[in-house]
Amino acid sequence: MNLYKTIHFKEIDSTNKYLKEYHQELENFTFVSTDYQNKGKGRNDRLWTSTRGENLLFSLLLKDEKYIKLGGLLSLIASISVSKILEEKYHLKDVQIKWPNDVYVNDKKICGILLGGQYPSYIVIGVGLNVNQIEFKGDYRKTPTSIALELGKKIDISALKEPLYVALLENITTEKDYIDYFNKHNYLLNKMVEVRIDNKEIVGKVVSVDNEYNLLIEFDNKIIKIISGEIKVL
Ligand code: BTN
Repeated sequence: MNLYKTIHFKEIDSTNKYLKEYHQELENFTFVSTDYQNKGKGRNDRLWTSTRGENLLFSLLLKDEKYIKLGGLLSLIASISVSKILEEKYHLKDVQIKWPNDVYVNDKKICGILLGGQYPSYIVIGVGLNVNQIEFKGDYRKTPTSIALELGKKIDISALKEPLYVALLENITTEKDYIDYFNKHNYLLNKMVEVRIDNKEIVGKVVSVDNEYNLLIEFDNKIIKIISGEIKVL
């Protein structure tokens, strides 16, 4: 079992921001969680909103070089850790990962993951998992879901938190091949998507991911490798 530290705030601006500010003083494998973020951050500088006390919001600090160098694979590891818990502990069906790091259930987003930090000194993995929220007001392309919505009952967040922390650390520290699991849970597989590359939008069909977790798209009879970027499903 890996040793880890935990810090919990009733309210904070953002757990990712906290770890970025204090990464020098804090140890590798420090988790920071909160009941409520008043400036939660999503991808592409969007706000991440979450009803007070209803969801699992946390960030993990990595300072050890051997984990930092996993880079983008950490997105895969984090999303697999979440999706395995959803399948194994809560028996949710149709759990899929939308490359690089969203978790979907029944075609609706249940978890967002945001990587930050400063290569090569530290990485922060932020996880926002919808647990008990049943009403989602706001501007969503598609209304999200939560474990409670999928199961039709409320969940004890504290019983979910530690197993997820432990699974995440185990998956980060053991060098397993996760691509196979991902390929069986690839939300984008065979979907037509739009990706922006060098200020150009390309439209293609997702065929798979490679061993480094880059997304492979068929475009103009060629296979294009996408290393990062915002993917829009058409
Ligand atoms: C996304 O846009 O899908 C990523 C959302 C990530 C949200 C989590 S909640 C905990 C951590 N703190 C933040 O401010 N953001 C991440």
